[in-house]
Amino acid sequence: MASVGRQAPSIIHLTQCKSRAGFLFAPSISSVHLAFHSRKPPKLSLSASSTAIHTRSILGSFGFYRRFSAIPILSKKSYKRNTAILSALVEVGGVKITKDDVVRENDPTNNVPDSIFAKIGLQLHRRDNHPLGILKNEIYNFFDNNFTESFNKFDNLCPIVSVKANFDDVLVPPDHVSRSYNDTYYINTETVLRCHTSAHQAELLREGYSHFLVTGDVYRRDSIDATHYPVFHQMEGFRVFSPAEWEESGVDGTSYAAMDLKKNLEALARHLFGDVEMRWVDTYFPFTNPSFELEIYFQEKWMEVLGCGVTEQAILNANGRPGTTAWAFGLGLERLAMVLFDIPDIRLFWSSDHRFTSQFSKGQLGVKFKPFSKFPPCYKDISFWINEPFTENNLCEVVRGVAGDLAEEVSLIDEFTNKKGMTSHCYRITFRSMERSLTDEEVNRLQRFYMISIYGCLPD
Ligand code: DAH
Repeated sequence: MASVGRQAPSIIHLTQCKSRAGFLFAPSISSVHLAFHSRKPPKLSLSASSTAIHTRSILGSFGFYRRFSAIPILSKKSYKRNTAILSALVEVGGVKITKDDVVRENDPTNNVPDSIFAKIGLQLHRRDNHPLGILKNEIYNFFDNNFTESFNKFDNLCPIVSVKANFDDVLVPPDHVSRSYNDTYYINTETVLRCHTSAHQAELLREGYSHFLVTGDVYRRDSIDATHYPVFHQMEGFRVFSPAEWEESGVDGTSYAAMDLKKNLEALARHLFGDVEMRWVDTYFPFTNPSFELEIYFQEKWMEVLGCGVTEQAILNANGRPGTTAWAFGLGLERLAMVLFDIPDIRLFWSSDHRFTSQFSKGQLGVKFKPFSKFPPCYKDISFWINEPFTENNLCEVVRGVAGDLAEEVSLIDEFTNKKGMTSHCYRITFRSMERSLTDEEVNRLQRFYMISIYGCLPD
């Protein structure tokens, strides 16, 4: 089988054609380069090489209530093995989780795909030889060496949390975009896969902790590119101060907490990145006031390292700590590990390829990753009319559901609205394996399957 080299992208036009049942959409596949993304999607022409996929109306596609059919592209044997993994029970922090607890095919309030369930329990941050585990341990070392009062460390809390813990308890407004089904994985209307480790702040305060670090996998519906993946890892830090601590300094509690926060996080950044230039940027988080972002000047650009701030008094009051102040911060481990270890693509963190895993060992922060080889990308363009429930995150979910980690990037490259007000989008989908060259056959199958997933029916 020929391998796919750098090639001119092929384009798929999902073309509207009239049928007795009303408007149907069918793809015509041609090898037209993107430059020809037609301002007027071409008429359906079925040639011997075209794949006829008769579809339902586009209305309803991409709505978050809609379930996408994930068509197996695996051989029978590996499909069986894969489904066995998916139906297995995982245990996180003493909580047993089955696939049925997380993925509910027929529940319209559930938008968790199998591919996301498959990541629960993998806990990359708990592997001492993994870049994320190495980074976590290095931050632990910093806190152990720089604070007299030791921080309680949690890295095994269950990622299934209530909407209340994930949003309400940390004062995320009811209309905040992060609450939408487009951004968050809902198990049902009351339960989500945590989208940030801040989801544990309130419960840990109620349990009496006043200095703590929480590390965990977090889940967000997102775009596809080298730095975004629907599962990633965060660390949350939290420190409560009693009035005695700030009173003798002569400044108010909020200023005291802000000063302590900035001093310690600057020291943490130096511990990880060396003697770098830093700056503080004022920002907004629902749970802190004031709120800041720390940026460092690294490899010739400003890079955001973390978000932080002085905890909103209402959070402390509601969780048994009236009269105290606190600071909190949250950082994304992948983002930092990518620059510290020179890891060019976020998908690599999930690789079990020995050529990746063997390059890292416990305690070795910042060993530079040596790419084992650069495999060629393959581009496919797809254009279609969009309708109201369409979102890019939903498209990305379909593509990931079919192509998994072979999907490297989905980018909007052209859009056009006709006189009737109908809008067509053209996306370029880049496929590339981190581990091997893809074959033409494989990529063509992927392309066919995500089209089927999008339109929810099988080819004739
Ligand atoms: N939860 C935030 C996020 O996911 C990160 C964060 C920012 C955490 C500020 C904090 C904080 O505790 O104070 O983007």
